[in-house]
Amino acid sequence: MNGVSPLAVCSAALPIDIRPILGPGVALDSPPRGSFSRAELVAALREADALIALLDVAVDAALFDAAPRLRVVANHAVGYDNVDVAAASARGIAVTNTPDVLTDATADFTFALILAAARRLGEGEALARSGAWLGWAPDQLLGQAVANRVIGIIGFGRIGQAVARRAAGFAMQVLYSSPRAVDVAGARRVELDQLLADSDVVTLHCPLTPATRHIIDAGALARMKPTAVLVNTARGPCVDEEALAAALERGTIAAAGLDVFEKEPSIHPRLLASRKVVLAPHLGSATLEARGGMARLCAEAVAAVLAGRRPAHLVNPEVLSS
Ligand code: GLV
Repeated sequence: MNGVSPLAVCSAALPIDIRPILGPGVALDSPPRGSFSRAELVAALREADALIALLDVAVDAALFDAAPRLRVVANHAVGYDNVDVAAASARGIAVTNTPDVLTDATADFTFALILAAARRLGEGEALARSGAWLGWAPDQLLGQAVANRVIGIIGFGRIGQAVARRAAGFAMQVLYSSPRAVDVAGARRVELDQLLADSDVVTLHCPLTPATRHIIDAGALARMKPTAVLVNTARGPCVDEEALAAALERGTIAAAGLDVFEKEPSIHPRLLASRKVVLAPHLGSATLEARGGMARLCAEAVAAVLAGRRPAHLVNPEVLSS
């Protein structure tokens, strides 16, 4: 851009001004609102030293080829399945993410979806707005109880544990499945099959990896209770949407609350049509506090790398030795 200051490119407009965090020596190129298209991003990256990438950007080898000066990708998300970390490491590019700052927002939103799906809030809202509501009725829109039930948490990192803390307030029994045991009072680690069979609410908090892609498939859904509620605030491809749509249609499970989708922003038409699904447009971290914190962490990571310091939340520490 100016040939002197290092250049940071941000793929979308952020809710806070990060220039004071980047510092006066770093130039910033970002769209005034909305997101750069892929072509605009590729063009902007030609001279870029740093990229702040929103989670809808596939940060892959082709993007790196278009950005020969790139030294850091600050991924504006805790999940970094959109980044080819091996390709970044091979080029000596640091990759960072934004944990912690979005934990409470995402756990809160998970509970919003648990309650909304279990208690049929989407259907209730539609009825209340429709003009067709004829008044209170003892059998109207009966849902599933949440308090005192069993919650099964798949993936027991920061967000999974924050969901468990909220579940304790609902006197829920907490089961979790995770590659490693975590010492959290009141939470019991079980095999995935047992979690699916025993839980009234199943909620996903694992990263998207080859092992968790379609971790909820037709077989997993068949193991769940017909009264069970499935919630996904992790990553869309953790759930086989086709299988979920079929399971809801057949009554294999009772309801679902989805914040993430296999092919965002499009939503499987049979889920879109289902009254048993509460849908949200990927809002898990959508509070000003969380999004401000994510933007701040990204800017701090860029500032650190461009100043030759180790950034916090470096996901590929192997770059430091290269
Ligand atoms: C949001 O989806 C995130 O991974 O931070």
